[in-house]
Amino acid sequence: MTLGAEPLLNRASSEISNDRDLAEEDALLTGERTNRGESHRGWKFWQGLGLFVYSLLATAVIIILAVVLQRQRNVSTPGDSHPSGKRNLIFMVSDGMGPTSLSLTRSFNQFQNGLSWGNQLVIDQHLIGQSRTRSTSSLITDSAAGATAFSCGFKSYNGAISVLPDHEPCGTILEAAKKAGYMTGLVVTTRITDATPACFAAHVNMRSEEDRIAEQLIGDYPLGRVVDLMLGGGRCHFLPNTTQGSCRSDSKDIVALAKNRGFSYVDSRSGFDSLKSGTSVNLPLLGLFAETDIPYEVDRRNENDIYPSLHEMAETALKALSKATETSDKGFFLMIEGSRIDHAGHQNDPVAQVHEVLEYDKAFANVLQFLERDPVEAVMVSTSDHETGGLAAARQLHTSYPDYVWYPGPLANASKSAERLAVEYHRYLASNPSDPADYIISVVQHDLGIYDASDSEISDLVSTPESANVLFADMISRRSQTGWSTHGHSAADVNIYASDPHAAALLQGNHENTEVGDFLREYLGVDVDSVTKELKEKGVLFDTLGEGGERVSWMGRVASEGERLDGQDHIAHYAGDHKMHKRGGCEICGV
Ligand SMILES: *[C@@H]1O[C@H](CO)[C@@H](O)[C@H](O)[C@H]1NC(C)=O
Ligand SMILES: *[C@@H]1O[C@H](CO)[C@@H](O)[C@H](O)[C@H]1NC(C)=O
Ligand SMILES: [Zn+2]
Repeated sequence: MTLGAEPLLNRASSEISNDRDLAEEDALLTGERTNRGESHRGWKFWQGLGLFVYSLLATAVIIILAVVLQRQRNVSTPGDSHPSGKRNLIFMVSDGMGPTSLSLTRSFNQFQNGLSWGNQLVIDQHLIGQSRTRSTSSLITDSAAGATAFSCGFKSYNGAISVLPDHEPCGTILEAAKKAGYMTGLVVTTRITDATPACFAAHVNMRSEEDRIAEQLIGDYPLGRVVDLMLGGGRCHFLPNTTQGSCRSDSKDIVALAKNRGFSYVDSRSGFDSLKSGTSVNLPLLGLFAETDIPYEVDRRNENDIYPSLHEMAETALKALSKATETSDKGFFLMIEGSRIDHAGHQNDPVAQVHEVLEYDKAFANVLQFLERDPVEAVMVSTSDHETGGLAAARQLHTSYPDYVWYPGPLANASKSAERLAVEYHRYLASNPSDPADYIISVVQHDLGIYDASDSEISDLVSTPESANVLFADMISRRSQTGWSTHGHSAADVNIYASDPHAAALLQGNHENTEVGDFLREYLGVDVDSVTKELKEKGVLFDTLGEGGERVSWMGRVASEGERLDGQDHIAHYAGDHKMHKRGGCEICGV
């Protein structure tokens, strides 16, 4: 109606010659009476005519709008507004994967397998849109704010684990799905307590509170247990600080608490194999296969007897959840994250990156295969929380104008990640403190496949072993002419993919990341707001007393002014050599 009224107002106002008529015009449009009498000759007639024309137009506009809206609804949102019947929703997150990660990986894959230029990755064939990723605190988001947009459907600040800028919790799609009778799962290759998985079933003010997140994930929080299946790394946050392999700051035994709450627990490859690809699973299930992160795929593939892969864990989860919901009238919600694409970006390591993306593509293909065979109505949506590394499939190496080239060969020649090579180098140095030049030369040839290393490259590695991770990665990046603009994240828009473009029609085109969250809850038809309400009401019962007797929120401390919350502390904390980069005042040297 407002739209229809506007032309009338514009046309009429140009003919108005005094203030009184302006007041009349206003009254005509707002329906408010004015105080004026009958003095204006002929006004009543024009008023009557105006009202008549106005109502005629308004009626026409309403009818047209109604028809158009009805039509849009029918065309673009088949069955999404009123979900009925059993449904499964699989949400895949490629952490830190921007569009260039795909150009790089696709090219690498073609080179490695002798495929034509036209050969695509599986995921390429399912592109439907793009997501804009900013958080409330920055154009450049971190994974916490990014995943909060997906889980809650709200923007928040970098570092927020499903809490809003006012430090109130927001209910998540997973929590709402559980309340509605769905089964739920989280599958990751990083710590299960890291930002992305945490945002689906935990609420803390700072992402660094991973001990607290571990407790919440197993149900020690206002809603009780909401996750039925967890597979990934991060075991160290579940073990008491009195145990080998713990990184908790207290002596709580979260594995024991989980078992008390009914979880079955596996922590090894043989434990994983006993799940028989998901056919032999007792839910709830907690599977923690690494102390911190599961190794990069490029390294893990040689340690297949120790760690399961992303696609194996995804398959197991799909099978277990679908079996567990076989006789239910509700399906499941499963989040699968290719977590360490992001880490490869942070470390500017193109070798680790392409292998992570290929493994994600494999998991993506497995999900599609599952959906083809499974009779339950379902959709898979895949997107990234942000881009990492400011990756470019190009690099200017000299001051002269560059050739237009990118070489996959150096990536194909390397057989280990820079992270792994650095760890092995540090281990070597610990037992061989003498001149490691020969060791370095042999590693560079054997593991990186580089036969033209310069004297300065070798001597830098010898003199600054604390920067080995960065130096190894850079040797490959320069030879392949891969560019990086940051060791952090960037604000690039990221891609959205779906198993079925019609079922995910709402996500076609360019969207805010929160609209991905909106889609998830709408697809399952679940009530996230009532979960928010419950969290707020019951949350106060979970507040604790601090050392000084002060009240501490169950969501933990709020960051102090200027405290860094973008998650880079975890890289320093976990990736061994990164924390040794603080030389001469620079956080990460050698770049
Ligand atoms: C382990 O945790 C307890 C608190 O639960 C603490 O008092 C103790 O200092 C911790 N020990 C270590 C070695 O961190
Ligand atoms: C890859 O390794 C081979 C030896 O296995 C070597 O001849 C070749 O030059 C290397 N390629 C690149 C691009 O470094
Ligand atoms: Zn990151």
